[in-house]
Amino acid sequence: VANRKFFVGGNFKMNGTLTEVETIVSRINEANFDGSTELVVAPPALYLLKIQEELKPPAQVSAQNSYTEKSGAFTGEISPNQLKDANVHWVILGHSERRSLFGDTDKLVADKTKAAIEAGLSVIACIGESLEERESGKTQSVVERQLEAIAKEISESEWKNIVIAYEPVWAIGTGKVATKEQAQETHEQIRQWLAKRISQSVADNTRIIYGGSVNGKNCTDLSNAPDIDGFLVGGASLKPEFIDIVNSQK
Ligand code: G3P
Repeated sequence: VANRKFFVGGNFKMNGTLTEVETIVSRINEANFDGSTELVVAPPALYLLKIQEELKPPAQVSAQNSYTEKSGAFTGEISPNQLKDANVHWVILGHSERRSLFGDTDKLVADKTKAAIEAGLSVIACIGESLEERESGKTQSVVERQLEAIAKEISESEWKNIVIAYEPVWAIGTGKVATKEQAQETHEQIRQWLAKRISQSVADNTRIIYGGSVNGKNCTDLSNAPDIDGFLVGGASLKPEFIDIVNSQK
């Protein structure tokens, strides 16, 4: 029987001054968590080390991106090995903003994922369809194409270091959350794909979290869906309601 620990990530994106981010993190530190949810927060890279010192364990910090190479002439990039060296154990890869604004293709996301896993990191791998793709019935084929690119680069045993974040692009930052039925349907398809393409045990054990306009009000309903194993939260992770989202697991 699957025993997937509920997982909530706060993706701060490019938001906040150091003081503002520290205020958000001290609110998280003061909250009452029972430990049944794995909690990761992803501040802007500039603040990672400072926030790592201040964040109360077992909560962990995550980077929002990393590159494919260990070191070298790649101005502006951070390597997964540097993250590992700095005791940052998580990285978000393939976020739709990276894909749409910064040219992260399926292949680049897969190569970054491979490099991160080889460096010893765990990866929050983001996938999801656009509105146009959903309306033309392509949701399943899009998420499977994005996952297949990753599957080509990593071995079966490495899936234990991956959390899949299903973030439909039309739901990100729009206030238009997927319904519980819409999210559950796609999460179930993803799990079935994992069973078929990788193995039943990877399908049973991999956390598939939902992202896109999750807030303190809609999180409880979504968390009741059998294949939703947590959330990746953007805007609401900066607000007090983030605590309710972390505590939303039934
Ligand atoms: O990575 C989280 C994200 O893209 C969702 O953003 O603001 O819709 O919660 P938001």
